[in-house]
Amino acid sequence: MKTRSTHSLGWKHIYMVLIMLILMAALLRIWRKGSSLSINMPSSQDPFTESSQSEQDRFMEPSPSREDQFVKSPSSAEDQFTDPSPSAQGQSIGSSPDDVSMSTNPEPEDTIEGNNSDAIMTEETKDEKLSFDSPLPMNPAMPSPTTKDNRDVENITYSSNSNPQVCNYAKGKWVADSRRPLYSGFGCKRWLPSPWACRLTQRLDFSYEGYRWEPINCQMPEFERFSFLSKMQDKTIAFIGDSLGRQQFHSLMCMATGGEDSPDVEDVRSEYGLIKRSGAIRPDGWAYRFPSTNTTILFYWSSTLCRLERINNTDPDSSLALHLDREPSFLTKFLHRFHVLVLNTAHHWIKAKFIANRWIMHVNRKPIKDGILMDMMNVKNYTVHRIVKWLDSQLPLHPGLKAFFRTRSPRHLDKTGFCNNTIPLTGGSEVFEEESSDKVVETAVKGTRVKILDITALSELRDEAHKSQYRIFSTSAYHDCLHWCLPGIPDTWNELLVAQL
Ligand SMILES: *[C@@H]1O[C@H](CO)[C@@H](O)[C@H](O)[C@H]1NC(C)=O
Ligand SMILES: *[C@@H]1O[C@H](CO)[C@@H](O)[C@H](O)[C@H]1NC(C)=O
Ligand SMILES: *[C@@H]1O[C@H](CO)[C@@H](O)[C@H](O)[C@H]1NC(C)=O
Ligand SMILES: *[C@@H]1O[C@H](CO)[C@@H](O)[C@H](O)[C@H]1NC(C)=O
Ligand SMILES: *[C@@H]1O[C@H](CO)[C@@H](O)[C@H](O)[C@H]1NC(C)=O
Ligand SMILES: *[C@@H]1O[C@H](CO)[C@@H](O)[C@H](O)[C@H]1NC(C)=O
Repeated sequence: MKTRSTHSLGWKHIYMVLIMLILMAALLRIWRKGSSLSINMPSSQDPFTESSQSEQDRFMEPSPSREDQFVKSPSSAEDQFTDPSPSAQGQSIGSSPDDVSMSTNPEPEDTIEGNNSDAIMTEETKDEKLSFDSPLPMNPAMPSPTTKDNRDVENITYSSNSNPQVCNYAKGKWVADSRRPLYSGFGCKRWLPSPWACRLTQRLDFSYEGYRWEPINCQMPEFERFSFLSKMQDKTIAFIGDSLGRQQFHSLMCMATGGEDSPDVEDVRSEYGLIKRSGAIRPDGWAYRFPSTNTTILFYWSSTLCRLERINNTDPDSSLALHLDREPSFLTKFLHRFHVLVLNTAHHWIKAKFIANRWIMHVNRKPIKDGILMDMMNVKNYTVHRIVKWLDSQLPLHPGLKAFFRTRSPRHLDKTGFCNNTIPLTGGSEVFEEESSDKVVETAVKGTRVKILDITALSELRDEAHKSQYRIFSTSAYHDCLHWCLPGIPDTWNELLVAQL
């Protein structure tokens, strides 16, 4: 009896323990589910405003010392990016080869129509979780976000514009940093156009290379090319814009390769139809792929972000219709392949340039005859707003795409019309303003899903970092106070971009 009762008691005990264990396991599960959900919430917020805190972890790798890269290269062999004439990078109105190549090569196709319907604009963004990285590891067992979660995400996205806690990378200061530049101006032969490689020119002061931008409100992770590439695994980064956009593209190529010869990087221009047409000085753009991570970086030339068409197709000397309300067909055609898009347009909105290029402005496929668009300042504002609105309407259809509009890159002309200063930060080193100095871009992106890449004020402080009068074999009467030396300021733009991915 005794043994039996003990025995049954033992079973009872075992049952009770088992039940308790099951209960505890169930509780633990509920608790974990709850916490993983609440932890995971921020990761599915606005994919563009990820907490910078979490970004730090991914950039733990110390960046190697760059000192050893400053070995003078034996040759300053001109590469494919070299402009045939020193003035080619200049802004001589209407005669810039960029314009020539554009005007001799208007975009032929006239088939793909942009869809600006409001129906698309109000459609809900479905796949917000497709942000490139979640700050926290995703739990694969976690249920996918419900519709309600997506509603939250949408509302957070829209309110983020006015949320003072969202990091503003444009507010901050320049600090001296011996780990700059990120690549050597003697290297990166394949991607650094020699006219912009000031180390190869007659210039002798290089203090402009030794500064890093430090945002005030947010931690900006150190750029580290291997982390960058793995973050961009299977992604395509597209720059579309003018020569300043091209500088940013060359800069990113050099940053991503560390300026080292990288024969493994493939030229994939043909995939994007980026050929050099006969008579053109440069191709319409470039595209390269890093096979190790399947990362593609490309640039497409479109100085106005408008569609250009020959008015009389059978006449090669025909004027060109510049459609202010139609995006370049390259953009329409390849948007679905992009994961990061950086647009810019700024310095080509000059009437004389339009006349020299025989660009006839069109809206609704009709030439503009009167109204506010007769004023060039309004034209640029109209176009920037128009393309941002179009892009915003497209973003819900491309949930994996992050779109940025880069603000104007400042030109610096002193009293004599030059940019001779070589002393860094004579006009101060900090940007205190919350708002952008580029009102056109700022107002255009406001309330949209298109993000501002605000580099205007911080670049404004760097008047000494332009290409200025230096050439490879001489100095020039033409001082280029618009384009920048590379390595240089566009590297910082890319650091700001990468921090926001
Ligand atoms: C634009 O989108 C709307 C809504 O999706 C659709 O009904 C319409 O046919 C589209 N128009 C064009 C020209 O693609
Ligand atoms: C998000 O905003 C919309 C429109 O303002 C509103 O209808 C919806 O209820 C909001 N969602 C949440 C979760 O607050
Ligand atoms: C490379 O990435 C693209 C997306 O950008 C993808 O479509 C393609 O399949 C990838 N290629 C390989 C070999 O993984
Ligand atoms: C187009 O150009 C061709 C060749 O210059 C000319 O013969 C023709 O009349 C032009 N067509 C129009 C509509 O102007
Ligand atoms: C720019 O264009 C937008 C949209 O067309 C308009 O609302 C705004 O007032 C314009 N801004 C200026 C300064 O003209
Ligand atoms: C800048 O340099 C040019 C010649 O290189 C000179 O003519 C000009 O006066 C200089 N400007 C200033 C403000 O020193």
